[in-house]
Amino acid sequence: MFNYTTFDESKIEYSEIAPVSELPNGERLFVEVGDKPIVIFNIAGQFFAIRDICTHDDGPLGDGDLEGLNIVCPRHGGEFDVQTGKAVQTPAVVDIPAYPVQVRDGNIFVGIPKE
Ligand code: FES
Repeated sequence: MFNYTTFDESKIEYSEIAPVSELPNGERLFVEVGDKPIVIFNIAGQFFAIRDICTHDDGPLGDGDLEGLNIVCPRHGGEFDVQTGKAVQTPAVVDIPAYPVQVRDGNIFVGIPKE
């Protein structure tokens, strides 16, 4: 389980995703980095990235509603903190990978652990 709050920068590789202008406040962006489906959120000007597949039963997590900084899985209602990936509401009990996001020169980058 990768969680950017405890990550070792030397083990991360950043991939350029898109210009910041493509992810306005309140929107989300679905991308694949390598073989990883990831959803990136702009919440009040802060960017967060998590895996787009729920740990409970593979639900399309990124399609869920946001409640503050939590995303609610549309399949069974499990919730995750988008800042950390922590599962905060059953039936989801396993945390989801959360990835560091950086903005450099007007572009969004997501950090993925090196294989
Ligand atoms: S698949 Fe997400 S809560 Fe069940």
